[in-house]
Amino acid sequence: MTSTRDGAGTLAGVQPSLRAWLEVSRPMLIGGVPVGDAPPLAVEDPSTGLRIAEVAIAGAEHVDRAVSSARAAFEADDWRWLAASDRGRLIRAAAAVVDRHSDELAQLDAIDAGIPIGLSRELIAAGVGSLEYAAGTAARISGDALAPSGLPGDRFGARVLREPLGVVAMILPWNSPAAMLLDKIGNVLATGNTAVVKPAEQTPLGALRVAELFAGAGLPPGVLNVVPGLGSVAGAALVEHPGVDAISFTGSTVTGKRIAAAAAANLTPVSLELGGKSPALVFPDADLDAAVETVAGNAFLLSGQFCTAPSRVFVHRQVFDEVLAGLCAVAGALVVGPPLDPSTTTGPLISGAQRERVLGLVGSGLLAGARAACGGDAVDGPGHYVAPTVLTGTTREMAVEREEVFGPVLSVTPFDGIDEAVRLANDTPYGLAAGVFTGGLATAERMTRDLQAGNVWINCYNAFDPALPFGGYKQSGRARESGTAAIDRYTQTKTVVTAT
Ligand code: NAI
Ligand code: MG
Repeated sequence: MTSTRDGAGTLAGVQPSLRAWLEVSRPMLIGGVPVGDAPPLAVEDPSTGLRIAEVAIAGAEHVDRAVSSARAAFEADDWRWLAASDRGRLIRAAAAVVDRHSDELAQLDAIDAGIPIGLSRELIAAGVGSLEYAAGTAARISGDALAPSGLPGDRFGARVLREPLGVVAMILPWNSPAAMLLDKIGNVLATGNTAVVKPAEQTPLGALRVAELFAGAGLPPGVLNVVPGLGSVAGAALVEHPGVDAISFTGSTVTGKRIAAAAAANLTPVSLELGGKSPALVFPDADLDAAVETVAGNAFLLSGQFCTAPSRVFVHRQVFDEVLAGLCAVAGALVVGPPLDPSTTTGPLISGAQRERVLGLVGSGLLAGARAACGGDAVDGPGHYVAPTVLTGTTREMAVEREEVFGPVLSVTPFDGIDEAVRLANDTPYGLAAGVFTGGLATAERMTRDLQAGNVWINCYNAFDPALPFGGYKQSGRARESGTAAIDRYTQTKTVVTAT
């Protein structure tokens, strides 16, 4: 790699150490060693369409080496057999190093994925919080000692031990590269596993930098390996690898199904965190100003490229016009622009292809009779921008109403009664999240009971915490890997009966 590809000045805004890091073609990290003997992949800044870096991309043979390294690290004395408090201490040390580099990581995610810098900082800070929580998880793992019900207690003792799974393959999407790895890796490591991470081809940088920082904090070599590459090559090789003991996938439902099928060949357990088409329901007794701010704020967060984005908004007919006007007012006040500009609220989409996909879905809805109350088209500029869009008149027959758009697009539909609200909200193959806005306890309780979603937020939205399990119903996923569910997810039990 030779020249700097800083045409529109993206890199002028980043801190010098990061700029220097981006100047060098980034190697994979396998067994603690940088590996650069592979073809390069260009990394683009979605706000300019220009190349900002280059990474070495993994083929099947690199994936194989990474899995072997992770296996060796798993079997070494200095990881799974560490005292739990020592493993926790290492994760806490990694959290501290990441925290010291949080500005740099926030900038890196901003230019790699187009995340507005303020939001990027929040996401990295949340990732540090997840790591700190996970550090405590290491010492919370416990088994059971039982008095067996059928075996005579004077002769037999029974224990149920919890052991790590082994090598965990992590396949990540592009919507918050470093931050998402920080969110997820802590629990994988706290439970004594080792990891091979395949970041998205659009955003390979964050995971590489995070792994370097972890190594600097003292994580043993091979515990965290990163192999950037194409989904169809490195991703497929990783999920099919017989040396992988568990798969953690985050991304689209289509790819999730493909991965579950590949994993079935080896009976590899898979957790899937997939797409959504999450509803927000606004009842007339809600604090409407707060509801509008919360719904619009979260629908357009990360330009809608957020798995839990509330993309279908159902509003009681009594307050429909008021809420619609409010949503458009918020959408109109958003500042669409480059991620490093602190005044930007809404960045670009990840790629030209993603912009075409989003505009195609919106366009087909408009052709079929939907109306854009605001937005509805691209924003000029070299980057992949789409105007914040609010649609009305969408129907279940329209792809834009059925499919995950993953763009700054929401649809607003009136309902008359609570039964209709429940039916509309659940009329989707997805079930990731739902938001309910009401001042009434009875309405809140009814919705809590009837909504088919892994996460229900009442008078709030996207209220995440590392202590809380997160995941989807229906085609939004399988298994929970965070919070109190993490230990179950990343360990297996061994039942031991001892006779004396
Ligand atoms: P994707 O789900 O195909 O990609 C996610 C990850 O899977 C990437 O690391 C990719 O390289 C990897 N991958 C792809 N094919 C694979 C295979 N056969 N084996 C193993 N790994 C594989 O998402 P894509 O195509 O980049 O985005 C398309 C749509 O997916 C978006 O428009 C959005 O609707 C949805 N999506 C949803 C996400 C969410 O968090 N809910 C995240 C990313 C995408
Ligand atoms: Mg990029």
